[in-house]
Amino acid sequence: MKVDVLLGLQWGDEGKGKIVDVLTPRYDYITRFQGGPNAGHTLEFNNIKHVLHTIPSGIFRENKINIIGNGVVIDPVIFKHEIEGIKKLGIDLTQNLLISKKAHLILPSHRILDSASEAAKGKAKIGSTLKGIGPTYMDKTGRNGLRVGDISANFKEKYNNLVAKHRQMLDKFYEFDYDITTYETEWFEGIEILKEFQLIDSEQYINDGMKAGKSVLAEGAQGTLLDIDFGSYPFVTSSNTVCAGACTGLGVAPNKIGEVIGIFKAYCTRVGMGPFPTELFDETGDLLRKNGNEFGATTGRERRCGWLDLVALKYSIMINGVTQLCMMKSDVMDNFDTIKICTAYKVNGKQVDYVPYEMTEDIEPVYSEFKGWNTDMSKMTNADEFPEAFKQYINFIEKETEVPIAVVSIGPNRAQTIKIEK
Ligand code: GDP
Ligand code: IMO
Ligand code: MG
Repeated sequence: MKVDVLLGLQWGDEGKGKIVDVLTPRYDYITRFQGGPNAGHTLEFNNIKHVLHTIPSGIFRENKINIIGNGVVIDPVIFKHEIEGIKKLGIDLTQNLLISKKAHLILPSHRILDSASEAAKGKAKIGSTLKGIGPTYMDKTGRNGLRVGDISANFKEKYNNLVAKHRQMLDKFYEFDYDITTYETEWFEGIEILKEFQLIDSEQYINDGMKAGKSVLAEGAQGTLLDIDFGSYPFVTSSNTVCAGACTGLGVAPNKIGEVIGIFKAYCTRVGMGPFPTELFDETGDLLRKNGNEFGATTGRERRCGWLDLVALKYSIMINGVTQLCMMKSDVMDNFDTIKICTAYKVNGKQVDYVPYEMTEDIEPVYSEFKGWNTDMSKMTNADEFPEAFKQYINFIEKETEVPIAVVSIGPNRAQTIKIEK
């Protein structure tokens, strides 16, 4: 069996959590391969609305194994809160949630370093979620990090050594005021909670499972345009959010990747700083934000909104080798008279149809205009019901991207999902 990968093609928050939950019945293992609690993945079903940060979105389906892979970074405090929240719904996770021993730990001091780094950058700040993601991945690649597997032997000593180094940076370099003690106490409680779970060699577990016929879904976090290599650097996250990240973040070989399911909103959003060529600063942008309830699932921040950017979408499809698309949140534009799609950029007066080296603020989008469908689609159950103008919108995207749209999502609920049979 192969690993199917589901990942975001824009700047995150495309609706990955919802679709992973919808697809989970087809798979045996649901895995996360990168990122950490900077992610906020929302699921809605049976009058429950739940946001997951570290735990894979297959967790609410029975008899499924959920795995936090080696590429993920874990904050024990946030993990503890997640476990408590899910327990309240009557679900015991100790049997079906497995954690890689190679996943790195986000220390309380990593969070503080994240804040100190952002404060020092001033106006040039990234707009990080302040969850300590950047400093934790820096310690991972700098070969200083603490891993889940370390929590058994000499843990306190290893912890103290790393914190001492962080304190030097905070005191001497950043000259930053901080209090670590309250968060630290809860952090060690979180470590005890982690110990209740099966801490495994997940790369072996997943590969053995595949050999034995188990099917695997890999759930991306963030989105391709936030990838550390291919995103709008430096306004990116610190992990490889692209398909290749599933290989390194789970320990599966490239020839074991099956379908690559790319997920995008019918428009675009971004939270945090950095370029966004199709951003709208007018009432249309406000309407997208209002209709789409575009406020961050992790930080509550307002999401910036704009038209769909096909230049960026095609780039993401290329980098990931996307084989099928899911289009989300088209219902947000159900009451629009006209809708635009960006099909090219003008950079210094010259028209280009690819993403330039620097996705600077100076890019001028070139738009194609479409008639809105002006129909409430949120209760539709079948693609046959789609209005003509909506069909033209999705046909245009399929023709331009040369990838079929397999799923259209018309509302946040699990049930508001339409599969398109070709
Ligand atoms: P993720 O990070 O990719 O999992 O996405 P988020 O959960 O951060 O953000 C997506 C938001 O849109 C959540 O509030 C979802 O409940 C909601 N959502 C998902 N799909 C749809 C849809 O098709 N229509 C609408 N209106 N909301 C959706
Ligand atoms: P999900 O998985 C949207 C953004 C932050 C910031 C930049 C760097 O829910 O789609 P970081 O905390 O990673 O150092 O922040 O990346 N960002 C996200 N934006 N969705 C996410 O995750 C994000 N995770 C990080 O806003 O601009
Ligand atoms: Mg999110």
